[in-house]
Parts: sequence; structure tokens; C-alpha cells
Amino acid sequence: MSHVAMEAEVAARAEHPRSTGARDFEQVFHGWPEAEAQAPGRVNLLGEHTDYNDGFVLPVAIPQQTRVAMRRNGTAQFRLHAAELDSAVHFTLHAAPQEHFASYVWGCLCLAREEGAEIPPLDIHVASDVPMGVGLSSSAALEVAVLRCLRELLALELDDVRIAQLAQQAEIQFAGVRCGIMDQMASSLADTARALLLDTRSLERRPVPLPAGSAVLVLDSGVARSLAASGYNQRRAECEEAARLLGVASLREVEHLEPIEALPDLPRRRARHVFTENARVLKAAACTDAAAFGALMNASHASLRDDYEVSTPELDSLVDLLQRQPGVHGARLTGAGFGGACVALCDEDAIQQVALDVLEQYRRAGHQGRLLVPSSP
Ligand code: GLA
Repeated sequence: MSHVAMEAEVAARAEHPRSTGARDFEQVFHGWPEAEAQAPGRVNLLGEHTDYNDGFVLPVAIPQQTRVAMRRNGTAQFRLHAAELDSAVHFTLHAAPQEHFASYVWGCLCLAREEGAEIPPLDIHVASDVPMGVGLSSSAALEVAVLRCLRELLALELDDVRIAQLAQQAEIQFAGVRCGIMDQMASSLADTARALLLDTRSLERRPVPLPAGSAVLVLDSGVARSLAASGYNQRRAECEEAARLLGVASLREVEHLEPIEALPDLPRRRARHVFTENARVLKAAACTDAAAFGALMNASHASLRDDYEVSTPELDSLVDLLQRQPGVHGARLTGAGFGGACVALCDEDAIQQVALDVLEQYRRAGHQGRLLVPSSP
């Protein structure tokens, strides 16, 4: 570029500052996007495997986001570009693309069309720094960001709750995981400053501040969540069976532990986790004390390990190291389990040191973890 052209571009940028997302789009598609949107990943502080039982959850958004940019391309095909894809993917709404990643985007477009939107062929650019495959809802962030961007582009009348519901349908129909609605509600409605207490039956919700002086630490155990989809669907079926044995529509409806304790061993333990976990969420939401909040997180991990059986030896080891560390109030696996990340509530001032010390001890135990939140600058 000549000196004069460069100066002209600098002047133009100063007059119309462009986002990083728009510039990434321009690099690939040689034109500016008509709409842009973003959505965060989430970490769940308490309330694991309760959402598909109509229960309570307490997630908080993480700083990492997925950004989507779009424009009408005037051709007969959609063109999708993302760092996660080896090359651009071309598709129409009539046939699902082969690439797993692209099928989430396709699923959201199809669901928006079913809502009555007329969707012209688009150029779509996706960029994300939400860690994938560790239980921080990178797929929910993608789905919510795509739907938000479509809303912006086509002036669709979708509110944030409807966006979360459509995003959940995309996950169920196109990714084959019979998930609850926590991740998509968190990505669509939560922020990083406060946790979101959500009743997944009524979708009533309210923000909950973290105990004063505390902050959220998330570490990756380095273990891929290999059994996540099959194990997850199996747990869900086990809960449905326990509810059937108890004569209720969902485990949320059970009011006392006694009938649960009378069930056969497996449904008893699955239902007991859900019952006690719901109670822990409601207690934590009323907690102003970090130590009390942390104790509830520790109890949640024990319940997920022993009653719900979704932990792994590596997650147990990382959680154990965190729980023993000065400056940590409590720790547990987070997300569906079977690998992935752990979350801890720490003293705000100690958080960097805790991360360094625990990752070093975990390394000496023969494992390779990494810091996910706070994210590196
Ligand atoms: C996954 C699902 C959520 C929720 C959690 C477990 O993240 O997508 O709906 O069930 O697992 O709490």
C-alpha cells in the first residue's frame, strides 16, 4: 500500500472505527459486514445436572466471547468462515453441512427460519476465544452469537429468552445432546460481574453478587470429555426413570429426601444428587460469606463424584489440590463432567498465586492443566 493510501485508510478508520470482528470479516470476504454480535461462554458455580430436571442453576459469564459478523452475499449459497474450519464451508438451508462446527450455525439459521424469518444467503465470519471442549459452553456462545447477529441483521423480533430457547433446540436437534437450558440462558442473559440464579422450570432469574472479596478461578484438567455426550444422555434417562419411580413429572417436584432414600441404589443416588444440589444452589444464592459458599461447592463435587458419577480421577485430583490450597474457599468440577474444567471460589488477591501453585502441583502429579479464567491479557 502506498504512503498516501495508507494515510487515507488510517483517516477513514479514525472516522469510522471498525471492530476487530469487522476487520477479520473484511480480510476474508473483501467487504464490510452488515451486522455483528457476540456472546460469552459461561462457568457454572453450582447446580450441575439440575437443569434438565427443572431445577436451579447458578452460572456466571466468562470474559471469553464468540464473535459473529454477517452480510447478505447476493448468491445462492451461504459461505461460512471460522478459525475452527480448515477452509470456508459453502451450504444451503436444504442440506446440513458435513462439518460438525458448521452444523451448529446451519441449525440456528434453520430454526430462525422456522420462527418465520426469511433468511437470504449470507457470508458469515466466526471468531472465538471461548475454550472448546472443556465445559465452558463454547457451543452455546456460538449459537447465541449467530442468533443475535441474525436478529440484528434482519431486525427479528426475538427477545433474549427466545434466543436462548432456539439455541438450546439447535444443540438438541443438531448436536444430539439432550441438554437443559442453562448454557444458552447464561450465554444470552448473564454477565461477568454477577452470577445468574435461574429457575429452569419457570425461567425466573435474578443476578447474585459473589461474596465480597472473592473471585472465580477456572482451570482445565487437560482431560478431554470423551464420554460426555453418551454419558450425559444416559444420566438424563436415569433421572427420568427415578422421577417415574417417584411418581413425579420431574425430580424438581420431590419435596423430601425420604422417598428418594427408599429407591433402588442407582436411581436413589442420581435423584439424591439432584435433590441436594438444588438445595445447595438456593443456599449459595443467599450466602454473603465466601467460606459458606465454598463449602457448598465442595459438597457439590462430592455429590457429583459419588452419587452422580460424572467425575474422573484427574478432576478429583485437581479439585483436591484446589480445596487444600490457602486462599481457596471451595472447588468442584464444572459443566457436564467426564473431563474438562474445574471451578474454584478464591480470595480475589490470591487468585494468580493459587493458579500457579495448583497447576505446578498438578504437573508434579503427572498431569497437564492450564489456566482458563481469569484469562491471560
Ligand atoms: C451441559 C449441558 C447443560 C447442563 C450441564 C450440566 O453443560 O449443556 O444443559 O445440563 O451440562 O449441569
